[in-house]
Amino acid sequence: MQKSTNITWHGAIVDPSERQAVVGQKGAVVWLTGLSASGKSTIARRAEQLLLERGAMVYVLDGDNIRFGLNKDLGFSPEDRTENIRRIGEVAKLFADACVVTLTAFISPYRADRDKVRALMPEGTFIECYVEASVATCEARDPKGLYKKARAGQIPEFTGISAPYEEPVASEIVLPTADQTVDESALALIAFLQEKGFIKAL
Ligand code: ADX
Repeated sequence: MQKSTNITWHGAIVDPSERQAVVGQKGAVVWLTGLSASGKSTIARRAEQLLLERGAMVYVLDGDNIRFGLNKDLGFSPEDRTENIRRIGEVAKLFADACVVTLTAFISPYRADRDKVRALMPEGTFIECYVEASVATCEARDPKGLYKKARAGQIPEFTGISAPYEEPVASEIVLPTADQTVDESALALIAFLQEKGFIKAL
């Protein structure tokens, strides 16, 4: 809902291509989605490190971290998750507009919320990346002990246990993390960015 009135959109004088030429890359949002403990943050962090090493401008927006600040007023109800993703989508869009390769790591369980972020972005610059791991796999990993707590009824509305996760149907990238190492997943993500011309070839 648009609440403010008497506001006017003020466009830039510079063309996106001018910024891209200076920075030497194109901005994009790689939207990692998947269950808790599927590997989203781990892959995003490793990809960030590898991309930085090769001179790319990259930044990670991470679920737990953003909930400490920007989204500290949001919980895990369906409405709050939708608002969480909406805000991150807007932030990620700004980063990408500034030519940053932006990696986001949020469960983002609702297909409609992810599709809304896609619709915000210029054609081809939203790259959905399904970090695929079953509930059983994630529960076996359980690095934060959250599945155990959720099974014990101590975390209401826990994704995969007592709250839904809507699997992507047409992701640009799928990373099956039960069958891949972290590096294999991170390199697959980077290969996609290179193939599509967002970053320079090595
Ligand atoms: S999202 O559903 O709104 O996209 P987000 O990625 O920001 O979720 O946050 C998920 C993280 O919050 C999980 O990795 C986990 O550490 C923590 N968490 C706490 N409570 C829940 C819950 N009920 N369901 C899922 N994750 C939770």
